[in-house]
Amino acid sequence: MRYEAKCTRCQRSTSNLLEYRCSCGSPLKVNVESTFSKEAIKKDEYTLWRYRKFFPYIEENQIVSLGEGWTPLIKFAKNVYFKLDFLNPTGSFKDRGSTMLISAVHKLIREMGGCIAEDSSGNAGASVAAYAARAGLKARIYVPATVSGQKFNQIMFYGAQVERVEGGRSKVAAEAQKPQQGKFYIGHIWHPIFSDGIRTLTYEIFEQLDWTVPNLIYLPVSAGTLLLGVIYGFENLADSGIIKEFPRIVACQTKQVSPLYHKFKGLPYTPPEKIDSIADALISTDPPLLDLMVEKLRKINGEVEIVDENEIYAAFIELARNGFFVEPSSAVVYAAYRKHVEGGKVDEDETAVIVLTGFGLKSKLKPQD
Ligand SMILES: Cc1ncc(COP(=O)(O)O)c(C=O)c1O
Repeated sequence: MRYEAKCTRCQRSTSNLLEYRCSCGSPLKVNVESTFSKEAIKKDEYTLWRYRKFFPYIEENQIVSLGEGWTPLIKFAKNVYFKLDFLNPTGSFKDRGSTMLISAVHKLIREMGGCIAEDSSGNAGASVAAYAARAGLKARIYVPATVSGQKFNQIMFYGAQVERVEGGRSKVAAEAQKPQQGKFYIGHIWHPIFSDGIRTLTYEIFEQLDWTVPNLIYLPVSAGTLLLGVIYGFENLADSGIIKEFPRIVACQTKQVSPLYHKFKGLPYTPPEKIDSIADALISTDPPLLDLMVEKLRKINGEVEIVDENEIYAAFIELARNGFFVEPSSAVVYAAYRKHVEGGKVDEDETAVIVLTGFGLKSKLKPQD
C-alpha cells in the first residue's frame, strides 16, 4: 500500500517518505488507512511487528528489527499497571518509532548512497543509531557540544558519526536540518513515521488488558512524539469501531519544563535560565509539536500534570525500592499518579496504566549515602 502523510494544518498530502515537514512549515501526520482488527494480529510474533498489518506502508522484507515492543504490562497494585517500555532493545520506548522509521527509509537512502541525520544526545539518538547500525546505514547524530553521559556513550558505541554543535538545542536541530549532499534529515521529532510507530504502544496496552481501555494512562511528555503516537493509536481503534471511549490521558511534565501544561491551561510560560531537573530527558521548552499536542489532548479530554524535583526523586526511589529501575524522566509519571491519588483525582476502582519509558542505568544520578 502507498504511503501517505498529511499536513496537520494545510491538509496537503505527500507520498514522499523523506519529507519530514510540510512545505508550509507544519508537522505531518501519517494517514492511517488500515482498519484495526484482532484477527489481523500475527499472534505468534512477540514483537511490535505482530501489528504489521496496521502499518501497510512498510514492506515485510524491509523490516529492521531488534526485537522491540510487546513489553510486559504488569500489575503493580490493585488496578495499577506498569507498562515496562524501558525493556526495549536500546532501553527506551523510542525503539517503537525507530524501527518503523528506519524500516521505511533505509533502502531508499542506501540506494542513494546517503546517510541519515538526527538530532538528539539522548534516548532517541541512541535508538536511531542502533537501528541504523542494524540496517547497515550510516547515521550522523547531532548533539550539543557539552554532551556526555551514558546515552551519549551508547550513541558512540553503536558506531554513529557524532557532530558536536555549540549553542542551544535549537541550534543543534538547525545544524542537523541544514541541507547537504547525501545527508537525509529524518529527525524523530519531525518525521511523522516516528510518532506513527508509537501507535503500537496503544495496541499493546489494549491487547494486554484483554481488550479493555483503561480509565487512565500516564505518559511523560517532552517533544510530544509519545503522547501523539498513543493518541493516534486510540484514534485508529475508535475509527475502526473497536472502542467507544478514550482513556483519560494524563500528560506529565516537570515543573521546570512545562510548556504543554501552561499552554493547555492558557497560562504564560517562561522556561528557567538553566534546566537542572533530574528528569534530564524532558527538556523541550519550546517543542515544535506543542500546538498539535494541545489540540489533540483537548479533543480527547486529556489532562496535564506537573511535578517538582522532590516528587520526582521520591517516585524514582519508590520505584527502585520496588524493583523498577527507571530513569528519573520515567519516574515523573509515577510521581504524577501519586499526586493524583493523594489529591483524590483517581478513584480506587479506576484502572491506571503508567508507562515507564527509560531504563535506570541511563541515569547520571548517584546513590546518596
Ligand atoms: C525516557 C523518556 N521518556 C519520555 C520522553 C518524552 O518523549 P517525547 O519527547 O516524545 O515527549 C523521552 C524523550 O526523550 C525520554 O527519553
